[in-house]
Amino acid sequence: MDLVIVDTYEDMSRVAADQIEAVIADDAACVLGLATGSTPIGLYADLVADCAAGKVSFADVTTFNLDEYRGLAHDHDQSYHYFMADNLFDHVDIDPARTHVPDGFDPDADAACAAYEEAIEAAGGIDIQLLGLGHNGHIGFNEPAASFPVATHCVQLTESTIQANSRLFDSIDEVPREAYTMGIGTIMKARRILMVVSGEDKAEILEKCLFGPVVPEVPASALQLHPAVTVVCDAAAGARC
Ligand code: GLP
Repeated sequence: MDLVIVDTYEDMSRVAADQIEAVIADDAACVLGLATGSTPIGLYADLVADCAAGKVSFADVTTFNLDEYRGLAHDHDQSYHYFMADNLFDHVDIDPARTHVPDGFDPDADAACAAYEEAIEAAGGIDIQLLGLGHNGHIGFNEPAASFPVATHCVQLTESTIQANSRLFDSIDEVPREAYTMGIGTIMKARRILMVVSGEDKAEILEKCLFGPVVPEVPASALQLHPAVTVVCDAAAGARC
C-alpha cells in the first residue's frame, strides 16, 4: 500500500486527479470506479478544469459509481446520479451512456444489484476505483458488519451514516434508510484502488483501517489485502499515520 500524506485538501485533490489522469493517459478506454461524498469534490473540479484545458479526455472512458440511495429519483438533488452530473459528468466530454450509477429508483433490489454487477463484468472490470472513507470505516455504503459483503447489494444504513448525511437534506427524516452499494468483493476486484481522506475527524478511523486488524467491523480494513492501493490524505487526516 502507498500512503501519500500531503499538506492540504487542495494538494490531496491534485495528487488524486493526477493518478486518475495517468490511468486515462495509459488507456483512453479505461473503466473508472467513482465515488461521491464531499471528499472527492475537489478532485472532480481538477478533472473538469483539466478537461476544459485539453489535458484529459473522457470521450472513451466508462464509469461505475460505488453506490446510490434506495428510493430517490435520479433527478433528486441528493441522489448520487445528480451529484455525479453536477460535479463531473455534465462538465466533461464523457458519453452519458458510458456512465453507470446503481439504479436506486428500481424497487427490485436483487434485480438492480445483479444487473449492476453484470454490467461491471461486461465492461471488463474496473481499472481504478476511487473511494472516500466514512467515519465508521465504511467504503461505498458497506457499513460495519459481521462479514464482508461480496457483491452489489441493498444495505440498511446505520444511524451514524444517516446522521452524517442528514446535513445535506432538509431534515433527517428525508435521508433514505437504505442504499444499493458495490460489495467489498466488487471493490477488491478493481485492479487499482485510490482512497482520498481529508480532515482531522477522519484521522482515527484512517489509522484503524490502515494499521488495525482486518475485520468487517472496519470495512475499509479489507484494503490492506489488496495488492495495489494508494491512499492520499491531507495532513489532518494523516496525523496518526
Ligand atoms: C457517504 C458515501 C461514501 C463516502 C462517505 C464519506 O456515505 N456513501 O461513498 O465515501 O460517506 O463521505 P465524505 O467524503 O463526505 O466524508
